[in-house]
Amino acid sequence: MNAKTRRLTVEIFRFNPQDPDATPGTECYEIDESPYMTLYIVLTRIREEMDASLQFDFSCRSAICGSCGMLVNGRPMLACRTLTASLPQHIRLYPLPVFELVGDLSVDTGRWFRNMVQQVEGWIHERAPFDPDAQEERMSDDESLAIYESDRCIECGCCVASCGVANLKPGFAGPAGLNRMARFMMDPRDARDDEAWFDVVSNEDGVFGCIGMMACHDVCPKELPLLEVYAYLRRKTLAAGFR
Ligand code: SF4
Ligand code: FES
Repeated sequence: MNAKTRRLTVEIFRFNPQDPDATPGTECYEIDESPYMTLYIVLTRIREEMDASLQFDFSCRSAICGSCGMLVNGRPMLACRTLTASLPQHIRLYPLPVFELVGDLSVDTGRWFRNMVQQVEGWIHERAPFDPDAQEERMSDDESLAIYESDRCIECGCCVASCGVANLKPGFAGPAGLNRMARFMMDPRDARDDEAWFDVVSNEDGVFGCIGMMACHDVCPKELPLLEVYAYLRRKTLAAGFR
């Protein structure tokens, strides 16, 4: 073994909620670190070489699909883009909180995001029925850039897991939900005006539920401008409220 090679201790949360006899706990696995090793590689090796029953999610392995979010030493991160070299020798992996546990490190983010999208009606509300023969609607470069920024969200759930309010209050739209509201508020094709948005955004499940801890901004792996998003929502809703 190379003198510089570390032997990592990977402590992983284990629990199968489908098994009535199961009790939550952790298991430790020892693995030799290799150059450019990611947590995705660690977990795959553990599953292939030591414990085939280990549950965790992945798909793209390149920080695009949003499947592999988990708590890494207490911080929400993507396993596929986290190098073990950036972590201490003892690594603790837990599933993201807030989301329903499927088993071990696997959580159901899909159900949470589907409910959130329905809550904020996160889709284009058209002014007229779609006409395939009509010309494409135009928007300014600034508008399209702002929408593009918000649309970069990969729905990994890291921001939601880091949010104190989302952890305590099930109805709260969370950082990803607020981002989704802003994405459609900014879209000139959406028929909803400021007053229509006011009811959705300006309550404790919307932007006024945020208490400004801003962990979401720190943990977002895509570095979305969440602070700017919240400032935009507050400006728009306050203006609509005064009107
Ligand atoms: Fe993940 Fe960032 Fe989207 Fe939150 S805003 S779900 S952290 S990509
Ligand atoms: Fe797709 Fe990590 S596997 S984001």
